[in-house]
Amino acid sequence: MHSGEAVVDVRNLCVAYGTFEAVKDVSFTVARGSAFGLVGPNGAGKTSTLKVLAGLLRPSGGVAFVQGHDVVRERNDVVRNIGYMADFFGVYDYLTVREYLAFFGGMYGLTGGALETGIREAIGMVALETKRDARIATLSRGMKQRLYLARALVHRPAVLILDEPASGMDPRGRDEMVRLLKTMIEGGTTIMISSHILDELRDLCTVFGVMEAGRLVGVHGLHDGDASITADVRYLLSTSVAERERAFSWARTVATVTQAEVVPDGVCVTLAGGDDAACALVRSAVEAGIRISLPRATASDLKDMFLRMTKGELS
Ligand SMILES: Nc1ncnc2c1ncn2[C@@H]1O[C@H](COP(=O)(O)OP(=O)(O)O)[C@@H](O)[C@H]1O
Ligand SMILES: [Mg+2]
Repeated sequence: MHSGEAVVDVRNLCVAYGTFEAVKDVSFTVARGSAFGLVGPNGAGKTSTLKVLAGLLRPSGGVAFVQGHDVVRERNDVVRNIGYMADFFGVYDYLTVREYLAFFGGMYGLTGGALETGIREAIGMVALETKRDARIATLSRGMKQRLYLARALVHRPAVLILDEPASGMDPRGRDEMVRLLKTMIEGGTTIMISSHILDELRDLCTVFGVMEAGRLVGVHGLHDGDASITADVRYLLSTSVAERERAFSWARTVATVTQAEVVPDGVCVTLAGGDDAACALVRSAVEAGIRISLPRATASDLKDMFLRMTKGELS
């Protein structure tokens, strides 16, 4: 039915608010233990997509699975397996840090010793030990954000869904969060994280889905943390046949593209400037409205995934 390796599997997802379509025919998969970044400007449909995956919003079309569970029909199984951090704070100012985590841990079904352990570990992971009995109202904005992350961790979920978690954090808090999330990925946690700022996700994510106006306009795989690559790199930009000439003309206008040629699957470009240039290329594609997927030509596993996705053949 669906791949055992895909922890998140989204197929032809649509979300409508009344007659307005906020998410249009979006399909992607997230492999176990990876970090998938959803990037795109405000209003692109990131939050709507993540809410569907968290079981909080019913899609108007398509299906989505988290760990093989249908987010609509098996919502309870989904909720138990995920930690969700929304893009806003709840108002619980009168609770202490400990009470807040106990409340949400309880909602996830934790009791007794398991609840106490979950609370202690979550507080430790976000370094709020000294604020354990402080009221939330007295915390700084960055501390509140960390507490909110702890809430998503308290039941040790296999999948973390984080909607713009870095907003409101200072640079140090952001670095600490990235470090924490990296440790969790090493431990086998799968992470989906959104941001309207691509650079915020560069240190963490290895695969990026780029959304604009409700559509997934590109998926970009990055080598594992290898930001030191500065040599020219060849990429295959997969495009539809209809878009090929337009993509070729666009590619030749991008400053960091040193060479471009039309090939059977799309357009092949040589990029100078390493991963920064690759990110800029994706940004430029979004701005120009070019629909591409962008696997590094050497990453055959990623490439296969993208090719399946672009043909809509997720099985
Ligand atoms: N509850 C809602 N009712 C009507 N429109 C909504 C609602 N939530 C979001 N939208 C609209 O859907 C689009 C996508 O929103 P959202 O998923 O929040 O995007 P993003 O997280 O990328 O900023 C936006 O145009 C937004 O105004
Ligand atoms: Mg949002």
